[in-house]
Amino acid sequence: MSIQTIGIIGAGTMGSGIAQACAVVGVNSVIQDVSDEALERATRTVSGSLDRLIKKGTMTEAEKAAAIARIRTTAKPEDFRDCDLIIEAATENQDLKVRILQNVDSIARPEAIIATNTSSISITRLAAATRRPERFVGMHFFNPVPVMALVEIISGLRTSQATVDTVTELAKRLGKTPIGVKNSAGFVVNRILCPMINEAIFTLQDGLASAEEIDAGMKLGCNHPIGPLALCDLIGLDVELAVMEVLYNAFSDSKYRPAPLLKEMVDAGLLGRKTGRGFYVYEK
Ligand SMILES: NC(=O)c1ccc[n+]([C@@H]2O[C@H](COP(=O)([O-])OP(=O)(O)OC[C@H]3O[C@@H](n4cnc5c(N)ncnc54)[C@H](O)[C@@H]3O)[C@@H](O)[C@H]2O)c1
Repeated sequence: MSIQTIGIIGAGTMGSGIAQACAVVGVNSVIQDVSDEALERATRTVSGSLDRLIKKGTMTEAEKAAAIARIRTTAKPEDFRDCDLIIEAATENQDLKVRILQNVDSIARPEAIIATNTSSISITRLAAATRRPERFVGMHFFNPVPVMALVEIISGLRTSQATVDTVTELAKRLGKTPIGVKNSAGFVVNRILCPMINEAIFTLQDGLASAEEIDAGMKLGCNHPIGPLALCDLIGLDVELAVMEVLYNAFSDSKYRPAPLLKEMVDAGLLGRKTGRGFYVYEK
């Protein structure tokens, strides 16, 4: 099956990025969110991001207008009826995702594929919330989606090869490099990355160095393009905490315990770039 129209659940950081990646290669999408404000922000974010491409000379005004016209926003999941693929990119919370997926399963055409962009929750478990586990798959994009080349394609226990092939082809059409991954908490990249960020937070909490020094250490000493704390601000501290909790529960291993400072900052609403403050302060 070749994917023509995509539904995206959640108009946050990832949902808007996926919509932009689709729009610039000519794929139509409809983004749904429970928050009107998130839908408006998503439209503004995509527009601003495409303006930067115009400034750089890699996109024309006409191309931008065509791309924007390919993105529709809605408050109603019923608007997913005609979609070939629906990508769930809502808040990282298992109960919420199960409810969303049960609802979308009842709305989507029987032959449509449902994918989830979860950072860490079991694909097999989320697939079981639907009546189409063979046509359910993980499509794990990276942030910022328009820039990052990787998509992890995660097979649940019952995901069919045809489903994997279809979404792999779509990822390539979006200009991405897909890698196939077996279902396991955190998949591959977050299983490695999130404990590294969590450890950086422990080093900050233990007063070993300042945030700037920790980030400089990892940039200059390990050749990372961005320090772990700045990366955590970009990802969102709430998302980092949710992933660590999933790893901790899945493996029952204390090496995955979230840093207390991370929990404190999430409780305080210091979620990183999206709230204007995390380990660093950002202009709104
Ligand atoms: N931020 C990252 O770096 C990153 C990277 C890869 C994957 N992910 C995953 O992508 C998903 C989304 O993350 P995000 O960073 O975009 O989060 P976000 O907080 O920026 O956006 C989530 C959006 O989901 C919406 N939402 C909540 N309940 C909803 C519902 N019932 N129906 C429709 N929309 C609903 C919220 O209003 C919000 O706009 C999560 O599963 C996360 O783990 C995030």
